[in-house]
Amino acid sequence: MLNLAVLLSGTGRTLDNFHEYIEQKGLTAHIRLVVADVENALGLTKARRYGYPAFFARNNADINAILANYPIDLICLAGYLPLYQPPAILAKRVINIHPSLIPAFCGPGFYGHHVHEAVRARGCLVSGCTVHFADDRYDHGPIICQKAVSLADHDDADAIAAKVFTAECLAYPEAINRVAALGVDYFWERCRQ
Ligand code: GRF
Repeated sequence: MLNLAVLLSGTGRTLDNFHEYIEQKGLTAHIRLVVADVENALGLTKARRYGYPAFFARNNADINAILANYPIDLICLAGYLPLYQPPAILAKRVINIHPSLIPAFCGPGFYGHHVHEAVRARGCLVSGCTVHFADDRYDHGPIICQKAVSLADHDDADAIAAKVFTAECLAYPEAINRVAALGVDYFWERCRQ
């Protein structure tokens, strides 16, 4: 069973989803700890309510110092906004969810509502989400799972965000289960140039 660290900056909606999936046995993993870079993040309050060890860390180095105290197989970015640099030993073990079909609408500046506004402004009729391994570039690294959603002409950014988040709730647990089944190296080797 994979030991997870969850990193977040905001409301912890992805943490809620992980917690529910684990309780319902749809995700075979342990959440070992939750770390936020925002002291009053709602996600931290939720983590404490769920009973997970939960910490505020001011910067990347402080996050890594906390992680060193736990047995971690996978670091899950769950609405964590800064570019994260893991300790060397976990370099290939960081995963992220992005609310578009990478490589569309991703990279610096494409986060949260900015993504869905851009999708709407382009008139896309399909969007979705991508779970991928993280490297030293935003929204880059081997893809683990993608889910597409159909958009209607009249969907505004809020409607797109709601459809995509529903897909995210399926995709992230599925991606973690895929990593548990296939191993980390499978994904990095699959994308080797
Ligand atoms: C995820 O839904 C994902 O799209 C992005 O951040 C969102 C979760 O953040 N990476 P939050 O819980 O809404 O702050």
